[in-house]
Amino acid sequence: MCRQYDRQVLCRQICAQRSWPIISWRAASTTFKAADLQVELNKHPKEKPAVKDLVFGKTFTDHMLTIEWTNEKGWGKPQIKPFQNLSLHPASSALHYSVELFEGMKAYRGEDNQIRLFRPMLNMERMHRTALRACLPSYDKAELLECLRRLLDIDRDWVPKSTSASLYIRPTFIGTEPSLGVTKSNHALLYIIVGPVGPYFPTGGFTPVSLLADPKYVRAWTGGVGNYKLGGNYGPTIYVQNEATKEGCQQVLWLYGDDHQVTEAGTMNFFMYWINEQGEKELVTAPLSGLILPGVTRQSLLDLARKWGEFKVSERTFTMAEVLWGLKENRIKELFGAGTACVVCPVNRIVYNGESYNIPTMENGPDMAKRFLKELSDIQYGRTPSDWTYLV
Ligand SMILES: Cc1ncc(COP(=O)(O)O)c(C=O)c1O
Repeated sequence: MCRQYDRQVLCRQICAQRSWPIISWRAASTTFKAADLQVELNKHPKEKPAVKDLVFGKTFTDHMLTIEWTNEKGWGKPQIKPFQNLSLHPASSALHYSVELFEGMKAYRGEDNQIRLFRPMLNMERMHRTALRACLPSYDKAELLECLRRLLDIDRDWVPKSTSASLYIRPTFIGTEPSLGVTKSNHALLYIIVGPVGPYFPTGGFTPVSLLADPKYVRAWTGGVGNYKLGGNYGPTIYVQNEATKEGCQQVLWLYGDDHQVTEAGTMNFFMYWINEQGEKELVTAPLSGLILPGVTRQSLLDLARKWGEFKVSERTFTMAEVLWGLKENRIKELFGAGTACVVCPVNRIVYNGESYNIPTMENGPDMAKRFLKELSDIQYGRTPSDWTYLV
């Protein structure tokens, strides 16, 4: 039974014993509501940088959303206020035990000047699942989406007027428990910051990446939390990314297990388009077995490919041995990553066990990666009407 309920019962008993009128008890609120939003506009709006000068994650808009929670009072009123630093107790659980999670999504301005989100409820659901795994409090996902929509509406001039750039959205949820015990946070802060970002491929065309696949590094494991967007999954990957750079590679291909299963690449899900042993065209990606992040882009590519119905679509475990065998027999057509940042990102080389393998993705068009990129960006920028978009 929750503490709040215990107190309510006790209070009623005391009131009854002393013949006091029973006062109505205000329960701690179990969600915040967009209707309670309090807005303080920024009196000193900043200059907006030109799209060509944008560097990912360096520019933020004039406003942010914050919502505080305590175990005692529940959720406070959501606030949109001028972008500002946070003030945190030095013992905050986010700082010591990584009680921290985030999301990554984008708002796109179409040629029709409408601003759209892409399947935002999938991000809201992933964030909520991650919050529960981090023992942070629940809330109504639709209310958070509406708070985000209001923030984007206030900062709408910050969404780049370009159909290659976008506004990156970073919902964040942290434990602010001001004490050092490794226990559930009684204080938390949910906030959203947003900022314009330029095109992932600034030259317009695809620029392929090379990957270091070193089985001595593991991103996630069975029974772990690789399928949640917890900050703790990301900090330790920076070292491995630096090792990849030293080896002349741009990103890491994450392997798992003694059989070197192929899971993800950098912060992208990973796809192989090939001719399988049965001679069938097949699009393969790792299954949602807890080892990979369930990407919104991954889901969308699978949904599109299944709708097209032109080749086999498999969510299944596949290994480096299969990739090397396919390469040897000239059956690999394209390897590419998939994520919000790039939509799809072709792979041209993998370094594995001291050998460098050329991947013929670019030589093959890459027809499949280009088709996915076109289909998804046409939806995101409103050129193809779709119920996957959500108007701001
Ligand atoms: C580890 C990891 N895998 C995959 C993805 C792709 O997910 P999404 O398509 O939702 O951006 C991300 C991006 O956030 C990621 O961090």
